[in-house]
Formats: sequence, C-alpha cells, structure tokens
Amino acid sequence: MAQPNQNQEKLVWWKEATAYQIYPRSFYDSNADGIGDIPGIIKKLDYLADLGIDLVWICPFYQSPNDDNGYDISDYQAIHPDFGCLDDVDRLIREAHKRGIKIIIDLVINHTSDEHPWFIESRQNRNSAKRDWYIWRDGSEAITEKPTNEPNNWESIFHGSAWQYDAETAQYYLHLFSSKQPDLNWENPEVKAALFSMIHWWLERGIDGFRVDAISHIKKQANLPSLPNPNGDNYVSSFKYHMNVKGIEEHLHELRDKAFSPFDIVTVGEANGVAAEDALTWVAEETATNKAGVFNMIFQFEHMNLWSEDSNQSSFNLVKFKQILTRWQNALEGMGWNALYLENHDQARSINTFGNPNYRYASATALATCYFLMKGTPFIYQGQELGLVNFHFTSLDQFDDISARNLINKLKHQGKSDQYILSLLNRVSRDHSRLPMPWNSEENGGFSTVTPWITVNPNYERINVSEQLNNQNSVLQFYKQLIELRKQHKSLIIGRYKLILADDPNVYAYQRVSDDCTWTIITNLSDNVAKVNIDCSALGDLILDNQTKNNEIAKTNFEKTGLASAYGAYVFMTKH
Ligand code: GLC
Ligand code: CA
Repeated sequence: MAQPNQNQEKLVWWKEATAYQIYPRSFYDSNADGIGDIPGIIKKLDYLADLGIDLVWICPFYQSPNDDNGYDISDYQAIHPDFGCLDDVDRLIREAHKRGIKIIIDLVINHTSDEHPWFIESRQNRNSAKRDWYIWRDGSEAITEKPTNEPNNWESIFHGSAWQYDAETAQYYLHLFSSKQPDLNWENPEVKAALFSMIHWWLERGIDGFRVDAISHIKKQANLPSLPNPNGDNYVSSFKYHMNVKGIEEHLHELRDKAFSPFDIVTVGEANGVAAEDALTWVAEETATNKAGVFNMIFQFEHMNLWSEDSNQSSFNLVKFKQILTRWQNALEGMGWNALYLENHDQARSINTFGNPNYRYASATALATCYFLMKGTPFIYQGQELGLVNFHFTSLDQFDDISARNLINKLKHQGKSDQYILSLLNRVSRDHSRLPMPWNSEENGGFSTVTPWITVNPNYERINVSEQLNNQNSVLQFYKQLIELRKQHKSLIIGRYKLILADDPNVYAYQRVSDDCTWTIITNLSDNVAKVNIDCSALGDLILDNQTKNNEIAKTNFEKTGLASAYGAYVFMTKH
C-alpha cells in the first residue's frame, strides 16, 4: 500500500470545482439566427447547475471579423452582435453567480485581429505611433529563389508563411496563427500597459478569471532567426523560436503582478510547449520557500499531440499516455495544480481519438473515469458529457476552420489527393467539436429553429441531452455520478496520485491515497477483455462502475476473474 499523503493541501474553491467549456457559437441559439449566443448560455445555466458544474469557461464572444471564430479580436471591450451585448454578459455573470457558478472568459493577448484599431493604426505608415505594437520587418534579401522574400522561413501554426506582406508600407508583419491575427509585440511596454488596463476593465465587471490563450507564444527568439531547412521546404515549423522561449518569464511575471494579482481570480494558461519539468515556473503555489508561478493551472499539451496534423501517429499509445499524465501528476504534487482535460474546441472528439465509437457508452464512461479522478480540476468540453463522436465529413468544402482550410491548400499544393486530406481531417479536424450541441431530437437537435452556421451531426436523433436526462444508463448520468462523487469526497481532491500497472498496454489503473482512505481507479481502455494483474480482494468497496446497475455483481465478477470487460471502468475505495 502506498504511503498516505503527508502534505497539507491548501484547499481553494477552484481545486474542488468541476469546470465546463462552452463554445458559444455552437451551444444554444436563443434568437433563431442559427448562431449560439449569450442569452442562449443563460437559458442553459440550469442544465449546467444540475450537472454539478461550478466553473464555466466561455470561448471568445468579442467583436471580431471571425477569421478564426472570435480568436481574432477587433475590440476587446465590445461583444460581437451575433452573441448579444455587454448587458447580456453582465446578466450572464449575475445569473451564473446566483447558481453558484463562476465564469471565466478567453483572454486572447498574443495577437489581435488585423481589423483592431491598434493594428489599423500600426499599418498606416512606418512612423505610426503604434508601428512597434506589432512585429514588422523588411523582406530578407537572402531568400531570393522564392517568389516572395519573407524576413525568415517560419511556418505559421495555421500553415503557410508566418509573414504577411503589406504593400502600403512595403514590409511584412508576423502572424503565428492566421494572416488576420497579427502578433502583438510584447517587447513594447505600451502594448502591455494597454492589455493590462483592458484586463482590469473586465475584472471590474465581475468576471471570475481567464483562460489565457496561446500565452506560451508571446516571447519570440531575439532577431527572429530562420530555421535550418534541410529538406528545402517552403516554410519550416518554427515552434522552437516562438514557444516557451527563454525570457518569457519576465512577460509572464508582469502579467501576474500588474494584471492578475490585484484580483482574487482563477487563471488557466494555455501552455503549448511547457513540459512537466518546467511546470512549476508556470503554476507553483506560493509557500514560505517557493515563489509563486503565474497561473493557477495550465492546459499542457503533451498528451494531446495537438497541431501535428501531418504526423502519422494515428493510433493511441496507452503506455506513453500514462507516462505523460503521471509525469504531470508527480511534478505538481503538493506544489501546483493540474487542469485535467481530454477535449476542447481545438480537438476531435475523445471517443474517436482515445476510445472506440463502436463502444460509445463504454469508452465514453471509461475515459471519463480515467481522467476525471486524477488530481486536478477536471474540464468537460460541451457535448463530452453526452459522449458525442466525430462527424463523418464527406467533402473538403464542408470544413469551416481556417486552420483546416489552410492545411487543405498546403497539402493540395504538395500533390496530396482529396481522399488523403479528407481522411486526415476526419481524424483531427477542429470542426468535429464545433458542431452544434444536441439538446433534443427536434430539428437541428434543438440547437436552433433555423439552419445553423455549421453542419449538424444527424445523430442528434439518438444522442441528445433530453434523451440522456431521462435515461439512467446514459453517458450524461455517468458524468453526473462522477461529479457528485468528487464533490462528496475530499480524498478525491487532495489524495496523492499513484500509478499502478505502469507497463500494462490496455489498462490505466491508479490510486488516490489520503490519510483516511485509498481509491483505486481501474479502466480498461481497450476493446478486448483485459486481465488486471492486481490483488482484487484488497481494493475495498466498488463505489462506481460502468458495467451494470448492480455494483455487487460487477464487483464479484471482477474479483472472481480479475477480468475487466472492454472499456470497463471500476472505482474502488478502502478506508484505512
Ligand atoms: C488557441 C485557441 C485556438 C485558436 C488559437 C489562436 O490555441 O485555443 O482555438 O485558434 O489559440 O488564437
Ligand atoms: Ca443567436
């Protein structure tokens, strides 16, 4: 048996919370224009409260030309009319708070839209007072064999060059994402001051915190050097020079001290490129001997393999997955806090990526059990609690996402067939998670009474909220039980994580150990029956499983045989 946790975990509300992510465009349309909106979120707050949600993260709803669906902001202090108005946001905060739900919003400060007044002024001429608010460079003489001569050979995260030529002033500006998302120059103190005052403005409105977008990209390698290009590609993946680059701590500390610290809020940074070894710089809790990190939690990317569309890794390697998540659990034990997630608006549905849609209920509930009871704050992405699966796209023009459209161009240029691209995007497209939330079996899944802005997955007739609320054996009811279980047992919040069966290729099993009890969480993440090589008789009571309504039968079967059924999930607890 593992040693009980000797650490006195500091308990705060956001550690105990269950969080839920909303993609507002696709959540609920209250005014029949085919687009989800803020009044629509307010209408569904009771649903979230009933589910047991304490914290909601809402993706961008600001004024935006929508090149990247709102992640290209043209006015931080205005709401896109598709979503409503500032009064709606104030009402949303009030109504959420009435139900004990806190609201955090997306803070997109690595870049703005090219239609933001700051950028419009910046691009006017080379002497503009805001010229240096963005990253402008002359063309490079060095790259002459190409039709263009970008300042360096960096590839954009959304494919193609990371530079856009501006004929007016004959210079290029840097955009790590789409060409309509110019990167702000964080080396300029005026930029930071303007961003921090905008942040204060939102916090004074009563927002409970932020999910901070793409924040590991704000520091760029000095002098923006080109990368080695042994294959002679048009552009070269450039993460090394703009992701978690040395020196970023200075910007982050300023963000913490000048923007966040004066307020009692929760912050979650999106931290691509941050490894478990440097996690404490980002999320350490302040103690007598430790300096505080920057955020309360970060979304790390190591287990998601995000932005690697062209990699050939299609199959899920469970042992590697366990190693990564265990590294994070251990790195932060007693010193920082994890944000737990399997899905978000940038990912395909987790059942398709990590599970098997042919075992939809079992794999949805096994995956849920597996990640949800680790140490950290669990985030549920809208529809994940229903076990939504990917949509089957049949043609390339069905994709809406700017990154998918750029990828299609790039791969077509390379001579890849439509069939190849379609099958790749059917696996990894961000659009899968952006289809409308199915509320009932009525037209468009009850999301909207008119044709929605994006395709509806026709399986809403079978898979929807209303059906699952009435069905005791649904994925939704299982999530409710998990959420409730975590609320009832402090040991599931503070207990130390301990991996067991590390090398088992089918079973993810771990314990949560606290002074008074030990939880053992066993999930078979394969579609075969798996032998679980532990002494089943010492596990205590079976508290939750996804096998049968009758725990005793599931327990007896499991104890007798040690066999876990395909995507079987078993949660045991024994008191010390
Ligand atoms: C983050 C967001 C993603 C967006 C990108 C650019 O990764 O999650 O949706 O496209 O930043 O803002
Ligand atoms: Ca609407």
